[in-house]
Order: sequence, then C-alpha cells, then structure tokens
Amino acid sequence: TILIIDFGSQVTQLIARRVREAGAYCEIVPFQSAGEAFERIRPRGVILSGSPHSAVDIGSPRAPQGVFEAGIPVLGICYGEQTMCAQLGGQVEAGHEREFGRAFLEIEADCALFDGVWAKGTRHQVWMSHGDRVTGLPAGFRVVGTSRGAPFAAIADEKRHFYAVQFHPEVVHTPDGARLLSNFVRNIVGLQGEWTMSAYRQQAVEAIRKQVGDKKVICALSGGVDSSVAALLVHEAVGDQLTCILVDHGLMRKNEAADVVAMFRQHYNLPLILVDASDRFISALEGETDPETKRKTIGRLFIEVFEEEAKKLGGADFLAQGTLYPDVIESVSFTGGPSVTIKSHHNVGGLPERMNMQLVEPLRELFKDEVRVLGKELGLPESFIGRHPFPGPGLAIRCPGGVTREKLEILREADAIYLDEIRKAGLYDAIWQAFAVLLPVQTVGVMGDGRTYEYVCALRAVTSVDGMTADFYHYDMNFLGNAATRIINEVRGINRVVYDVTSKPPGTIEWE
Ligand code: XMP
Repeated sequence: TILIIDFGSQVTQLIARRVREAGAYCEIVPFQSAGEAFERIRPRGVILSGSPHSAVDIGSPRAPQGVFEAGIPVLGICYGEQTMCAQLGGQVEAGHEREFGRAFLEIEADCALFDGVWAKGTRHQVWMSHGDRVTGLPAGFRVVGTSRGAPFAAIADEKRHFYAVQFHPEVVHTPDGARLLSNFVRNIVGLQGEWTMSAYRQQAVEAIRKQVGDKKVICALSGGVDSSVAALLVHEAVGDQLTCILVDHGLMRKNEAADVVAMFRQHYNLPLILVDASDRFISALEGETDPETKRKTIGRLFIEVFEEEAKKLGGADFLAQGTLYPDVIESVSFTGGPSVTIKSHHNVGGLPERMNMQLVEPLRELFKDEVRVLGKELGLPESFIGRHPFPGPGLAIRCPGGVTREKLEILREADAIYLDEIRKAGLYDAIWQAFAVLLPVQTVGVMGDGRTYEYVCALRAVTSVDGMTADFYHYDMNFLGNAATRIINEVRGINRVVYDVTSKPPGTIEWE
C-alpha cells in the first residue's frame, strides 16, 4: 500500500488515480488522522499532497514525523515538498514570486524519479501552483530540477529515498507526470503491479463473505453501473443470500426496467424482485410543479416502497450499495474540519438506520472508471458498462412542471428515438449524457394540411469529466435536423424540437 496524506489540495484524488494506474493500491487519509493511519496501514511508501495552506504559517499541518523515520520512500508534492523540507531541517519562505499554471522545469541532474522520462539538460512542461517555496535544503538533499520561480523545483535525497517536487505531477498539464509517479511507485517503492482488478475482485469477495457471514443482504438495483457491479460482486460472494429489489417508479426510460430484469434474472440468475410502483409515484406527483418538491416526493416514496418490499422478505441484516470512492472520501475542509461527502442523491439514504441494517459497500475504494473495469471483469455487457448517467428521480425532472402519464409516454418515445440516432451516428461514447426534455409549452405547427398545437421537445447533450462542470455537445446541424424530423414524425404530441446550448455553469445538466 501507498499512503497518500491529504493536506487539502483540490487534486489529491488524482494522485490516487495515478498510483492505481501504476498498479499499486493506495489510500488517501486526511492529515489529521495520518498518524493513526500510518501505524495501522504500515505503508511501503508515502506521498504528501499539496495544500491551500502556507507551510510558513505557525500551526500549518505537518506529516507525522514517523513517516520520515520508517526507512520508506516518501514523495512530497508542492506543499508536501515544503512541509517535508520544514520537517527535515530545511528552509521555506513565503514567495516573492508566485507561480501559477504552466512552467518549465530544467533538469539539473539524473535521478530515480526521472528515470527513462527526463534526462539531465532537458526542459519540460510542468504545472505549478504555489506561493511559498523552498529556499534551503535539508541535509542529504540535492537539487535535480529548477524552474524560473522555484530554484528547488525538484529535489532528492536518494540515500533515504526522499523525493519532492514543487510542481504537480498528478495533473494532465504536467504531460509526463504520470510516468514520474509510476517511477516512484514501481521503481523507488518497488510495488510492481500487484494491484489488478482481478486481484481486487478476489479480495472484495473474501471481504464480503467475512462481513456478511450467513446473513441476508438486500440491494436496490437501478440498472446503473454502480449498483449493478455492487450487486454482482455481492452475489458472487454470498449467492442467494442476496436479494435485489428494482423499484420501477414509472419514471424510467423506454424498456429500461424490462432490460435490467432480463439481464440480471436470466444472465446472472440473480434473485431480483421487480416492484411496479408507477401508480403510486405518478399519483403522488400529480399537480406538483416545484422541482424540489418533486425530487423530495420521489425520494420519500422510494424509501417507503423499498422498505415495504424488504419487510415482505422478512427484512435483512445488510444493505448493499454502490458507493464509490469519491463519495466517501474524507475531504480536508478548512472551513469546518474534515467532512464526509456522501452523494445526496443516493435514494436509499436513511434506510440503514431506519431498518437497522449495516452497509455493504464493495466499491467504496474505487473510482468510476475502475468500477467499469471491474464490471467488465464480472462479465457485464458493454451496453451496461458504458451507460450514460441517469438521475434517481428519472424522467420526472425531465418533464418541467407537472408530470402526467401521457407526458411521460411522449417523453419516453422522443428520448428513445434521440438516443437511437446518437448510437447510430456512433456518438454515444463521445457524449457524457444525452436526453430529451418535454417542455410544458405547446406551440402551433402545420402537418399535412392541418394546424397542430403540440408540445416542444428540447434535446440536451453534454460533455463532462465528472458531471460537476459540462459543455454542451457541438453536434453537426444535420444530425440535429434528422433527429428532430424523426421525433416530430414518429411521436404523437410533439411538433417542435429545440437544442439546449447551455453549459454548466451557469446551467445544470438536468433541467430541474
Ligand atoms: P446536474 O443537473 O446537477 O446533474 O448538473 C449532474 C449529474 O447528476 C445527475 N443527477 C442525479 N443523479 N440522482 C442521481 O442519481 C439525482 O437526484 C440526480 N440529479 C442529477 C445528472 O443526471 C447529471 O449526470
């Protein structure tokens, strides 16, 4: 294991990704609990992250001193370099010249960190973001790279296997950064690719067996990749001690519930209960036009329905959830102490306490793309693995204003045609998320010789990395024209189609 001590940088998670890509297992811990974690995990190597803090401030965070006394390799990044120097007897000063963004590193000497990547005398683009800088080296260190604003931009004490850089190797703007981190992990720490997805699968299965014993587990399956992979893993571990419940709230896409059921029942022979609760959801939504009330109504009903079904099964001791690493990671917050961020839209939130269940979360150490790899490993078809995200409240938040069965039906048809066109054009994987929205507006049109007065359908497609920010997708106009024609010709109730060209921010991806 590699231990990453988080001093609150915005990009600490990227360090973890790069370490995993290099084939080593790692854990991120906030600096406040680093001492305890260091003793417990006994890592083979440590990485110190960046931070919004200033290492020259009194009381600024430090790494546990034991990290430097354990005889293991340590890599300091940005603030991590500064605190390493401060803790080992070097000098750090508040910067006169701040460096933000692209900078160039001159390689002054060969070192193990640069092996096979950067040679002495060459110059390379790196990403800097610092105000303070190291001005005096601790004993045993030498400079291996410099930049205009940082005379100690890369330093090494090769005897003790301590390395530190002022730039950020974890971000893509340091083009060779991933290879430097791989050098640290594979050559300096000496972890050579033990961490593979099939090893993870075995470990996870063992861990689930140990946790669950011979008790019962239930899982809310949505058909999304996270809950699907979590369910498959738990099923592999404890077989039919697991029962999945799919609540069809009547707000899913065309054929979605049936596809999910077919897949899990037939292909995996997994015990799955399909609950058709669409009447309940749709009557509860009747007349409701406020987006937040709609969301809350759906969330509350979901829990009610799920709880009823679970009771019919005689209850369960465990609830399996597809919680991912970014959802659970303890972020180091400088406003109110360490805080745990948990996806607020997880529909089963609150259930474990109400029903006195424990959580089984076999994906809590993984990133989304790793979950996809694991899904592949478990034989999940590409059509499930590569799916666009779909919100818990489903089509209800894509029918702005009041929701009716009729409107949902129209929307479902339009959405299916739109997605079909996207797939046919080979664009599905290039788009983060695409969907139709049925506007609560009717407009006049002419079809054949008659006047029409029907709904407007808006099409949305965005590119994004994590859903936090997004840009609208730049389609070829002919594509949009074709999709619009098909929707208007094939869907009764729509006579006009528009395209949403709003990015996020200022818009959100969904309309409600
Ligand atoms: P927004 O609309 O906030 O959406 O830009 C960002 C991403 O989150 C998805 N989303 C949800 N997912 N339950 C979910 O599981 C929800 O309540 C929910 N609301 C939004 C949205 O589809 C997009 O991918």
